[in-house]
Amino acid sequence: MEIYVYGTGCGAGDLIDSALPLEKVTAFVDSRPMSDSFLGRPVILPEELARRRYDLILVTSRQAEAITLHCESLGIDPNKLFFLKNHAALADRNRCYETAEQVLGADFVEKLCSSQRLIRTPLWSEGEPLPASELEGDYVRLKTLEALCRELDGIPGAAAELGVYKGGFARCINQLLPERTLYLFDTFEGFDPQEAAGYGEGFVSAHRNTAAEQVLSALPHPGMAVLRPGLFPASAAGLEVSFALVSLDVDLEESTLAGLRWFLPRMSPGGYLLLHDYNSPRLPGVKAALRRYEAACGQRLHAVPLCDVNGTLVLSV
Ligand SMILES: C[S@@+](CC[C@H](N)C(=O)[O-])C[C@H]1O[C@@H](n2cnc3c(N)ncnc32)[C@H](O)[C@@H]1O
Repeated sequence: MEIYVYGTGCGAGDLIDSALPLEKVTAFVDSRPMSDSFLGRPVILPEELARRRYDLILVTSRQAEAITLHCESLGIDPNKLFFLKNHAALADRNRCYETAEQVLGADFVEKLCSSQRLIRTPLWSEGEPLPASELEGDYVRLKTLEALCRELDGIPGAAAELGVYKGGFARCINQLLPERTLYLFDTFEGFDPQEAAGYGEGFVSAHRNTAAEQVLSALPHPGMAVLRPGLFPASAAGLEVSFALVSLDVDLEESTLAGLRWFLPRMSPGGYLLLHDYNSPRLPGVKAALRRYEAACGQRLHAVPLCDVNGTLVLSV
């Protein structure tokens, strides 16, 4: 097997120290080499690599975008590139993990993944990682959801989403927490017209375009879902459940406040509430609702803002 290591910096040194025996490396690759050898192995230019036979190229540099483009321009097979420095700020650039598994063996790739940065979320006791197609929507939001779900091992309680729309995020929760009941609260007919008065007709009518049955049929584990159709908080009447994970995504101030008031006292210690759109300039009512809730409690809540597309806030309870 012809295995190349792209990069001759700390990442490459760390890879050799922690996971990959030097004798498995045919050569190192660097577009601006400091020397023609590294750790006693030859260093070649990417142009030279393109002319050779290669089974796998382990990329240890963080310059994933530049390396992808450069390799593409040289005709290097993108399926043979295996990026070891993927992390939450980058999309997962690995087109296929199977190539690496075929060349190195599945156990070794697992070891590689855990000794390097986050390149593939390790499995945890409950669920399966999200597929790449799902992650394209909002990588940071969804990778954070994966990481939060892993932290829930041992924390009791159901999962819930208030504000489901077509069920995109609900589908991810259901996949990641297949053993937890998932309560889904929505009118499934869009916003309360009174509350949405003053918002554009495009925004309001687009959110009417959903149906509970469609949401249910798109879930990977529909048997774990419990639909609570209707206007919240009336739709929660009579339900006494504790929650480990809640997604609160109703866009508007009064409904967000109702969600905070209803869910937060029902959260299990160690659980998380994801407040979507907290930092969205389009929807200032979300942050206003949280500030009103905090003013009523007389304290700021523990929370971490995400740099995802719509500015989610993760409240930890
Ligand atoms: C932005 S969408 C939710 C998007 C969804 N979380 C996703 O990932 O695609 C907002 C949803 O909140 C629902 N909603 C807003 N206020 C509500 C309320 N008081 N009761 C029930 N549903 C409400 C709307 O019907 C709409 O489907």
